[in-house]
Amino acid sequence: MHKRILLTGASGGLGILIAKNLLDQGHFLGLLYHSKEDKLKVLSAQYPNQTLLIKADLSEDDAYETIFNIFPNADVLIHAAGIASSGMSWKIPPKEFDRVNKINYFAPFYLSQLYIPNMRLHKWGRIIFFSSIVAQKGVVGTSAYSASKSALIGLSKTMAVELGASGITVNAIAPGYMNSGMIREISDDMIVSIKDQVPSHTLGDPQGIVALIDLLLKDSGSYITGQTLSINGGIL
Ligand SMILES: NC(=O)c1ccc[n+]([C@@H]2O[C@H](COP(=O)([O-])OP(=O)(O)OC[C@H]3O[C@@H](n4cnc5c(N)ncnc54)[C@H](OP(=O)(O)O)[C@@H]3O)[C@@H](O)[C@H]2O)c1
Repeated sequence: MHKRILLTGASGGLGILIAKNLLDQGHFLGLLYHSKEDKLKVLSAQYPNQTLLIKADLSEDDAYETIFNIFPNADVLIHAAGIASSGMSWKIPPKEFDRVNKINYFAPFYLSQLYIPNMRLHKWGRIIFFSSIVAQKGVVGTSAYSASKSALIGLSKTMAVELGASGITVNAIAPGYMNSGMIREISDDMIVSIKDQVPSHTLGDPQGIVALIDLLLKDSGSYITGQTLSINGGIL
């Protein structure tokens, strides 16, 4: 059955691939972006009856009411929006810590609160957050990002036990270093050192994430909940 899906970060490297796959399957998508409308315009022209473009800045408190007014019911929430931030933990200004956590952590928390009542009513729902390998390992200079991504692991576990009886699953996907999206912010030297940590010495194919989301949305994925699903090429 076709679902109503709110996908944040739809204009990002991973988001656009996730969106395309879900649209191909006939789902209706609220495609939330911040600044890069161009790629999504192409997609929405291809699927005019299945898409709604939503421009919002998730660091702004008043964004949520607007989003909910435009897209009031969702069966599925996928929060792929995220920002990276670098800086040693003792140097990050509180404002920067706040900005990163607002988009990476508070946004999925608030959006979940908005859509859970509808999911509970229908006794079916899927909530998918994006954590990161950076939350599972210590990585120098990533304190704000890593704190926000770690928080999602705890939040997804708690929500999974709270919502299990309502037919709602909640999981966090924790990608390693993918060959798309945020990786563009990493220097070539750093990419060489990242590849050294991966057993295959390669970056990840984002289609693995697309396929995992497919599974989580299916009824056959209904017993997968409260998990942090790592896709990282075997970095331990
Ligand atoms: N790619 C990887 O290797 C990797 C690894 C680990 C975890 N992750 C996580 O996976 C998720 C997707 O990553 P990605 O690689 O696709 O990232 P990306 O290409 O950098 O895309 C980030 C997305 O977040 C949106 N965004 C940024 N600031 C926003 C704001 N203030 N309000 C609303 N939306 C905002 C961007 O919108 P605009 O582009 O329209 O501004 C974009 O759609 C992220 O949560 C990331 O932390 C990715």
